[in-house]
Amino acid sequence: MCALVKLNGGSVTVREMTSYDLDEVLAIEQTSFSTPWTKAMFREELFIPLCHDLVAMCDERIVGYICFSIVVDEVHLRNIAVHGDWKRRGIASKMIAEMICLSSEKGADRVTLEVRESNRGAIDLYKKFGFVVKGVRPLYYNDTGEDALILWADFEGML
Ligand SMILES: CC(C)(COP(=O)(O)OP(=O)(O)OC[C@H]1O[C@@H](n2cnc3c(N)ncnc32)[C@H](O)[C@@H]1OP(=O)(O)O)[C@@H](O)C(=O)NCCC(=O)NCCS
Repeated sequence: MCALVKLNGGSVTVREMTSYDLDEVLAIEQTSFSTPWTKAMFREELFIPLCHDLVAMCDERIVGYICFSIVVDEVHLRNIAVHGDWKRRGIASKMIAEMICLSSEKGADRVTLEVRESNRGAIDLYKKFGFVVKGVRPLYYNDTGEDALILWADFEGML
């Protein structure tokens, strides 16, 4: 278990996602994104060896999840969300910390992601982990035509 982040939200644990979690995960996904992943997308994710999916649990309830892939030494953070009642308690930070520790053990040393340029809360979260903007994908999001910022962070200094 990783000690990168002290949690400010009681006893939250992080474990691997299973197919039994998908209804709860989907409920959070649908309230978190304008173009949510479908249940089929999450289910497929669970069977791809390069993909890793974790859930944050509190009192037997799923309060957040993170989905990422590892290709050799690079991690791609593909999805992260926290239930509305549980935001700003360090849960996303805890899940990112777990992702970094797990990926580091598997030989990765850097991580990338795309984020909507309007998603200031997520950008602030990522900056706390040392992410920096390295590029832009113009018109990346179909629903709004918004650009995606491409962020990268090295694990060095985080662990
Ligand atoms: C972004 C998200 C995952 C953050 O989850 P969280 O558990 O609330 O984040 P944390 O509590 O770990 O936040 C850590 C820090 O990130 C920053 N942060 C997080 N959410 C923020 C917000 N809405 N506004 C400003 N800063 C924010 C703060 O610096 C925060 O530290 P603080 O609470 O001590 O000020 C959550 O808001 C969410 O699910 N959003 C919808 C889905 C989404 O946008 N996912 C990211 C897609 S790229």
